[in-house]
Amino acid sequence: MSFVSAFAAPLLAREQHRFIDEHPETIRRDKALREHWLNGVPMHWMSDWQLPAPLIVRAASGSSFVDVDGRTYADFCLGDTGAMFGHSPPAVANALKHQAAHGFTCMLPTDQTARAGELLAERFSLPCWQITQTATDANRAVLRWARALTDRKLILVFDGCYHGSLEDTLVRLDRGRVVTRPGQIGQVADFASYARVVEFNDLAALEAALADGQVACLLAEPVMTNAGMVLPEEGLWAEVRKLCTRHGTLLAIDETHTLSSGPRGHAHRLGLTPDFLIAGKAIAGGMPMAVYGFTAELANRMERLLETKPAGHSGMGTTLAANALATAALVACLQDVMTNEAYAHMLKHAATLADGLRERIAQRSLPWHVTTVGARSELVFTPTPARTARESLAAASPMLERLLHLYLLNRGVLVTPFHNMMLVSPVTPAGQVQALLDHFEEFLHELS
Ligand SMILES: Cc1ncc(COP(=O)(O)O)c(C=O)c1O
Repeated sequence: MSFVSAFAAPLLAREQHRFIDEHPETIRRDKALREHWLNGVPMHWMSDWQLPAPLIVRAASGSSFVDVDGRTYADFCLGDTGAMFGHSPPAVANALKHQAAHGFTCMLPTDQTARAGELLAERFSLPCWQITQTATDANRAVLRWARALTDRKLILVFDGCYHGSLEDTLVRLDRGRVVTRPGQIGQVADFASYARVVEFNDLAALEAALADGQVACLLAEPVMTNAGMVLPEEGLWAEVRKLCTRHGTLLAIDETHTLSSGPRGHAHRLGLTPDFLIAGKAIAGGMPMAVYGFTAELANRMERLLETKPAGHSGMGTTLAANALATAALVACLQDVMTNEAYAHMLKHAATLADGLRERIAQRSLPWHVTTVGARSELVFTPTPARTARESLAAASPMLERLLHLYLLNRGVLVTPFHNMMLVSPVTPAGQVQALLDHFEEFLHELS
C-alpha cells in the first residue's frame, strides 16, 4: 500500500481544487448557509462528508441529482439508503400528491392504514406492526417492549453496530469491557451498565453473554453494514436463533439497510425468523417513516401489558409518526415500488458493478476486495473480508476512501462517504454502472 500513500495526498489536494473551481455557486451558498446554520448545514454532521463545501442539491429524480452548480450526479449513495428505490419513485410521488389534498396528519389511523398492515404482514411474515418516524425510534420502541415483556434490564448488541442515535446501543467493547461509545455530546446516562456487547461471528461469546438469562433482547443487523460490511459466517444465524430461544432472549432484526437484499429483506433469505423486525429509511420510498413488526404471541403479551400497566406515557411514539402522508407513501412503496422486478434489476446491476470492480482490482493485483450484500457493494482496501467489526474498522483507510469519494464525485458519480458503499436502485441504468467502473479504472491508473 505504500504506493498509495505516496500518491494519495497530492491527488487529494488536486481534486479539492478541482471541486472548488467547478462549484462556484456551491461555495457562494456555503458562505450564506454558514450565517444561520451550525456548521453551515441543517444537521451538523452533514459536514462530516469532508468536501471543501457540502454539495447543495437542486433537484433529484430516479438515480440522479443535480446540484446548484448545475452538475449532474449518478447517485450510488441514495441518501445512505433513504432513497434506495430511487428519488421520487412515481408511485410514491402520486400517492403523496393525492394524499396532500386530503390532509397531512390527524394523529389517527387513515383509510390506508389497514392496507399498510396487510402489506407488511404479507411481505415480512409477521402479523402485527407499529409505525415510528425513524428507524432509531423503531429500535428504541423494540428495546422498551423487549425489556418490559421479559422483565429483564439488559440488551445485547454486536460490537461496531449502528442502530441509529439510540443511546442504549451506542456502546462498544473495549478490551473486554462494555463502554459508552466515544464522541457523544452531552450524554450523562450510563447505558453501558444495561448492555452487553460481543463480537459478530463469535458464538461462544454470545452464548456466554446470554447464559445467565438476564438479556431481554439481541438487536442486530443480519449483516453488519455500519462498520464496513461484515458478513455472517455460514450457520451463524441458525445458532443465534437457537441460543436466543433457549435463554429467553427476544431476537430483533434491524433490516433498515439490508432491505436491499431482497423484497422480503435479508433475514428471510437466511431463513431466519426474528421476534421483532425493524425497517426504516426506504420503507416508505424516502418519506420519514419506520416500522417494526412482531409475532402474534408478542402482540398478545403487549396487549395485556397495555391493559395492566399504570396510567401515563409509555415513553414511545411521536406526534407525527404514522401521519397520513407517510402512510400513503408506505402503501405505495410496498405495493408498487418494492416489486420483484425492481429487486431483480437492483441485484443484477449490483452484481455487474461488483464484478467490474473485482476485475479491475485483479488486473492490477491490488490487495483489495469487494463485499456485496444484495444491492450494496463496498470496496475495501484489504485483501480479505473481515470477520468482526473490529477487524473491519482496523482495515479502514480514511485517506484513500476520502480520495476515491471525491475523485468520483468530481466526475459525476456519488458513492456513500466514509466507507465507499455503492447502492444500486431499481432505476439505475447500466450506463451509470459503466460510468462508475470507467472512473474507477481511471482512478486506479492515476494512483499507480
Ligand atoms: C441498521 C440501521 N438501523 C437504524 C438506523 C437509524 O436510521 P435513522 O437515522 O433513519 O433513524 C440506521 C442508520 O444508518 C442503520 O444503519
